Amino acid sequence: MPTKMDAAIKAALQAGELIKNRFRTDLEIREKSPSNLVTEVDLQSEKLILASLKSAFPDIPSLSEETELLTEEFQSERWIIDPLDGTTNFAHGYPFFAVSIALEKDNQVVLGVVYAPILNQLFTAEQGLGAYLNNEPIQVSKTRLLGKALLGSGFPYYAWSHSDNNSRQWTRLIRKVVSLRCDGAAALDLCNVAAGSLDGFWELDLEPWDLAAGALILKEAGGKVTLVDGSPFSLYQRSVLASNTILHDEILGELLFEE
Ligand code: IPD
Ligand code: CA
Ligand code: CA
Repeated sequence: MPTKMDAAIKAALQAGELIKNRFRTDLEIREKSPSNLVTEVDLQSEKLILASLKSAFPDIPSLSEETELLTEEFQSERWIIDPLDGTTNFAHGYPFFAVSIALEKDNQVVLGVVYAPILNQLFTAEQGLGAYLNNEPIQVSKTRLLGKALLGSGFPYYAWSHSDNNSRQWTRLIRKVVSLRCDGAAALDLCNVAAGSLDGFWELDLEPWDLAAGALILKEAGGKVTLVDGSPFSLYQRSVLASNTILHDEILGELLFEE
């Protein structure tokens, strides 16, 4: 009998292989809303992951991005799945995207797997057991000064139509840090904070499947995660501020600063 971690890794690797094989090929692309894309590969990846997890653990239901409305009732455990995080990147041939699979149990994420197939990076964590990149333990950075920090962020899909689209925060932070990155795959951004490649990351308007696995991996690597206003983190409150812990309050102060 495989463990739940075995099953999640197997599904992520299989889906990653499928996605990799379709990278930079002709794709059927549809707009879910203006600037929010979905490809046939998102759907194929989801189908494969759901089938793979179901065959290993038939009784555990799933909350997965593309079949969001079809979610089954769940008792205490469920998988939370983003079959392709970073679809815009994938559709444009930009190699920064990942599969994200988490297990939520009694309202807590207890297991997370994020697999970036082109980068060949497999991030894993189980609650209380640390975080790993390709089986090697990872830790957040030790950067103490905001002026030495590299931060990541992203822009919501409603950026065209709303003024509260993260541009105020971006403009504020760019004057305070070494530089900012906008890599377009939130699950992987969180893992990059976990691995110390970024010192922090914030974003608005995220969904539970963007956050579940990455937030656990970050916490297990010694990082801190809250909402962007500093209140306790929840998968269902749509925002995230993730950091190496040391810089958390300082980044938060800048995000909350009104000019
Ligand atoms: C998106 C990515 C992106 C973030 C969006 C997400 P998707 O996920 O994580 O970085 O800015 O808010 O929706 O749609 O590619 O799975
Ligand atoms: Ca996503
Ligand atoms: Ca997705």
